[in-house]
Amino acid sequence: MGPQHFIYPLFVHDGASDEPIAAMPGCRRLSEAGLLAEVARVLPLGIRFVALFPAIDESLKDSTGSESYNPEGLIPRLVSTLKERHPELMLVTDVALDPYSSDGHDGIVAPDGRILNDETVEVLCRQAVCQARAGADIIAPSDMMDGRVGAIREALDDEGFTETSILAYSAKYASAFYGPFREALDSAPKGGDKKTYQMNPANVREALREVALDQDEGADMVMVKPAGPYLDVIAALRQATDLPVAAYQVSGEYAMLKAAAQQGWLDERQVVLESLLSIRRAGADLILTYYAAQAASWLGEA
Ligand code: PBG
Repeated sequence: MGPQHFIYPLFVHDGASDEPIAAMPGCRRLSEAGLLAEVARVLPLGIRFVALFPAIDESLKDSTGSESYNPEGLIPRLVSTLKERHPELMLVTDVALDPYSSDGHDGIVAPDGRILNDETVEVLCRQAVCQARAGADIIAPSDMMDGRVGAIREALDDEGFTETSILAYSAKYASAFYGPFREALDSAPKGGDKKTYQMNPANVREALREVALDQDEGADMVMVKPAGPYLDVIAALRQATDLPVAAYQVSGEYAMLKAAAQQGWLDERQVVLESLLSIRRAGADLILTYYAAQAASWLGEA
């Protein structure tokens, strides 16, 4: 296991300074300057992949998430700045409406509370093309709408972005381990929950079906999320596809490890590296983890 296996997620916002995140000690919402400094710090550690997650000002949110495809928006601006400075960096951008939605959902919410799948997919395609145009290398739909991978692939190809890859969140469970992330982005659902589009934690066969669909629709990589509590799903996917499998060690997994370490109850370095090794052992080629930079640095010392 080495730093080449990690994708490093970073929270960004439009503010002038970096802001701490209470439930994720050690992680911050970064300003543009903070992001550039953090990327410059981690590249020498061997980090190759960075994923960006935006905290969007409340005033820019609306029911259709229209800020998500604003070419002057936070993510496109930061992507082009980063790409210019570090062409070798692989940039992963998240496709979903929740950071941009006044309802805090990944899709557009109908008056009766249902999520409008096909209307959402149209917006996701515009968001994906906007990110590719800014220079994103890997488009990562985390929304879980049906048919979005095929639609995004077609939209990218139509605009000439045939080289832009798709990392599909294929097996994304309706998990309570996402709590700290929603605090970081202030993106918690205002009503209802995400159980109509995210998967039931009790199912593993559904994950195999989702992967088969995403693969047929043109996904270049598939992802399991969360990672640690779902190692069996990672192992099942590893068997079911030849595509690279990624796993997302999510905010709640980070918060648990960090909290116990801060109390002095667990040896942070040892448990973090063990947790990442276990995710690799289960079959993940890539791990998205808030510990990416720290783990890369520990592995470099060893
Ligand atoms: C939503 C999204 C979520 C995460 C990544 N993308 C939250 C959710 O589905 O509510 C969670 C990641 C984490 O907890 O670290 N598109």
